[in-house]
Amino acid sequence: VDVALLLGGPSEERGISLNSARSVADHLEGGVVDLKEIIFFDRQVRPYAIPRGLLYCNTPSDFDFKLAHEGRPLTEAELLDRLRGVDLVFPVMHGAFGEDGQVQALLERAGVPYVGTGAEACATAFDKYRAKEALDAHGIGAVPSLLVDASMSDVEAEELIAGAFPEADKLVLKPAKGGSSIDVFVARDRGAAADILRALRKRHDRIVVQPRMTGVEVTTIVLEGPDGPVALIPVEIELHNRAGDDEIFDYRRKYLASNDSHYHCPPPRDDETIAGIQRASEAVFKALGLRDFARIDGWLQPDGTVLVSDVNPISGMEQNSFLFIQAAQLGMAHADVLREVLRAAAR
Ligand code: DAL
Repeated sequence: VDVALLLGGPSEERGISLNSARSVADHLEGGVVDLKEIIFFDRQVRPYAIPRGLLYCNTPSDFDFKLAHEGRPLTEAELLDRLRGVDLVFPVMHGAFGEDGQVQALLERAGVPYVGTGAEACATAFDKYRAKEALDAHGIGAVPSLLVDASMSDVEAEELIAGAFPEADKLVLKPAKGGSSIDVFVARDRGAAADILRALRKRHDRIVVQPRMTGVEVTTIVLEGPDGPVALIPVEIELHNRAGDDEIFDYRRKYLASNDSHYHCPPPRDDETIAGIQRASEAVFKALGLRDFARIDGWLQPDGTVLVSDVNPISGMEQNSFLFIQAAQLGMAHADVLREVLRAAAR
C-alpha cells in the first residue's frame, strides 16, 4: 500500500505532530507500507512535499530553516495530484486543521481515502462542548461543563462563572477546541476564574468551564475491528503532585522529560471495573461516529462509572504514547497496531 503522511499544521500541537509522524514513519516502513509522500503543512497551512530526512531535524528552528531554504509550497493542484497518487492518506496532525475536520473535509472533497474519523464527526469530537452535548444526547456520562462563547458579554460570562458548580472548590477553564492541555488552567476560587477567563477570551472564542474533577484519571485507546470498536487496556494516570502546581496532567507531564506521573497499564482495579472503562470508551466511539482509532479520556468515579473528559480523534502517536503503551499490553508491537489502524481504514 502506498501511503501519504500529513503532518504539521497551524495548531500549537504541531511539534507533537512532528514527533508522532516520525514514529509512524519509522514503524510503518518496517514492511507495512510504502511511505510514498510526506506532506508538511506550515503555520499558514501551506503544504510542502518534504523529504523523509526532514523528520529528523534536531530542533524546530532547524526544520523551519531547511523548509524555508529548500522547500517550495505546493499549489492546490500539485497537492491533490500527490494525494491522489497514493492508496491511503494518513493525517498525523493534532489540533486545529488536522483534527477538527478541516483536513478531512479537504480529503473528502478530493475523493481521497484517508485514515481516521470523518470530517463531520471530527468537528464534533474535537470541540469539547459539542462532544459533551452529543454524549449527553446518547445518555453517556461526561464531565459537567458550561460554555462561554463569543455571544456573551464579559459581565454575563463572569456571572456564569460566579455561580458555576457551587459544590466544586476549584474550576478548570480550557479552550473548547484544543489539545495537549495547552491553555488549560485551574482556578482556586471564583475570582481567579474570572481573571483566567478574561485572559482566555482574548485567545479563544469558545471556553469550557468545568469543576475540577476528582476520581481516577483514565485514558483508553479504541481500535475499530471488523465487528466494531474494541478498547485496548486502559491506562490509569497517577500524578505525583508537586506543591504549588496545578495538579493536572499538563503539557509537562504529557511530553517533557520531567514527567513525574506514573502510568498504570492495566489499572490496579478489578476486572469488572476495567471492563466498564472499556465498554464506556467503545460506547463513546460508536456514539460520536469515530473511525479506525481514537483515544477517550475520562474520570473513573467511585461507583465504577466513567465521566468522559476528552475525545481525541487523532491521538498522539509518539514512540511512548498511550497508543503504543496500551497495544504493548496485548503483545502488539508499534508496527502491529499501526497495521490494524490502516486495515480498519482500508475496510
Ligand atoms: N492531543 C494529543 C496529541 C493527544 O491526545 O494525544
